Amino acid sequence: MALRFPDHFFWGTSTAAAQVETAGEHPWRGLRARDGYLFERTTDHEKRRAEDAAYIARLGSIYRCGVDWSRLQPEPLAKFDPVVVAEYRTFFDDLRARGVRLMFVLHHFMHPNWFEARGGWLNEDNISLYINYVQQCIKHFGEYAAYWNTFNEPNVFAVNAYFFGDFPPHRKGKYFQANKALDTMGQAHDIAYTLIREKYKDAPTGISLNTAWFDGANWPGHLAASLARWWFLTRAARPFEKCDFWGLSYYAYMLFDPRPIDAMNRLEALEKRGIPHDKMWGYRPEGLGRMLRRFWKKYRKPLIVTENGICTDQDAVRIQAIRDYLQVCHQAIAEGVDLRGYIHWSTWDNFEWHLGPTYRFGLVRVNFDNMDRRMTEAGLFYEKIVNGKSAEQ
Ligand code: BGC
Repeated sequence: MALRFPDHFFWGTSTAAAQVETAGEHPWRGLRARDGYLFERTTDHEKRRAEDAAYIARLGSIYRCGVDWSRLQPEPLAKFDPVVVAEYRTFFDDLRARGVRLMFVLHHFMHPNWFEARGGWLNEDNISLYINYVQQCIKHFGEYAAYWNTFNEPNVFAVNAYFFGDFPPHRKGKYFQANKALDTMGQAHDIAYTLIREKYKDAPTGISLNTAWFDGANWPGHLAASLARWWFLTRAARPFEKCDFWGLSYYAYMLFDPRPIDAMNRLEALEKRGIPHDKMWGYRPEGLGRMLRRFWKKYRKPLIVTENGICTDQDAVRIQAIRDYLQVCHQAIAEGVDLRGYIHWSTWDNFEWHLGPTYRFGLVRVNFDNMDRRMTEAGLFYEKIVNGKSAEQ
């Protein structure tokens, strides 16, 4: 059976600058990831732009990506480096010539070292520094953007940077700092939203919020799950409600007992319970449907799946995941949810933050010894969907 999607529905893929470009002067640079790789040379994207553009164009009409703020702006309020601007514009021109427009992500878990040194998102005085960067992005790159994300997953950023300590600045248990970061980002979002919409009236703007299906394995687990649900999906969304659409990402079924049970840290506990999983989390695609319905019911605004994918080395598993998730999206649309597009994470394998590049999500496989790329069966499968606007089940 083939699933038909509405004519206006769009397809795409996504990466993030820090995860695919050789690291600029930002806080991830030089960190040793869990799989032993150094966060430095990631995938050589800056050296292989034409090759990558060809893959991107085969995998949808929208490419969701960002730029390395630290390379563009070596100092606060500096004029963007014209050489770096030209490098990005050449790439975006190439994509445009191939029929691809951008969902431009202004902040994806990375900002320059000088921004972090001034207190990062805990310091409201830094908002004006981000806004200066946004203004220059609008000026130099705005013409390529069909959609904007002011922030990628502020909830994931805040919880990992200030509560679990996995992301720079690696603070642990600082609940109030996590909230402060969210609220500062929210203030910055409101200003950025207004600036973008003043200049580009037809470019829908919002964030991408990470969502997950939080569930309990026992009664303390249910309590932990409902707290997580509230903070992650309600509290963290509140500062970003001024938006034209909700971008939602979904990867994980998160069980609590009351500690989180994921495949990275507690694989045995997950397997003991017979829960399907990828290399990182429990796998329950129907959770994406729950999230789409939840946000549609609450906000009645258009939705876009801004990221979705699976951490695996196996093609067949990735193909099945695409099938499962598109079935869920199709069902949500049939129920009346205004879902406008689906963006797969990720275009090619990239550097999975503190875990490292061997945690693969790519439709295109990267050999990390020589950075060679190769289209996968899953990529070919997705390419067919993109071209036919229907998904074989
Ligand atoms: C992030 C990506 C990341 C992906 C897989 C999302 O939360 O935006 O940068 O690679 O999840 O973990």
